[in-house]
Amino acid sequence: MRIAIGSDHAGYRLKEAVKSYLLKQEYTVEDFGTNDTKSCDYNDVATPLALALVKGDFDRGILICGTGIGMSIQANKIQGIRAALVHDVFSAEATRLHNDSNILTMGGRILGDDLAFKIADVWLKTEFSNEKRHQRRVNKIES
Ligand code: RB5
Repeated sequence: MRIAIGSDHAGYRLKEAVKSYLLKQEYTVEDFGTNDTKSCDYNDVATPLALALVKGDFDRGILICGTGIGMSIQANKIQGIRAALVHDVFSAEATRLHNDSNILTMGGRILGDDLAFKIADVWLKTEFSNEKRHQRRVNKIES
């Protein structure tokens, strides 16, 4: 699975930790920055990553800012993106099963490393349920 990952300054530390964690597994990971803790705008990372994802260059995306909120709002502006802000394992599974989310956003100022790893694991490994009612709702989002 090809994963695009990115953060702003507030998500940088957790982004680096999640990236290392994923690289130890069977994932291909491309980093869209940022590359340090110098202040930057989450928009400038979310948009190129989201565009690359809808273009088909990646299978999933992970975006981390201080809260995960700015990243999710910005990424969801791109047609074809279903970004889910997740801070618990139940939602990580549910948003894959129900929403077929293609970007996971998390808050670097909220989550500890181990919980973020677990959320990423569950989110990456859970397939969309393909149930009719969920597909119908996803289609409505897309239209
Ligand atoms: C940066 O201070 C912070 O606003 C940003 O990382 C994010 O939390 C915005 O939603």
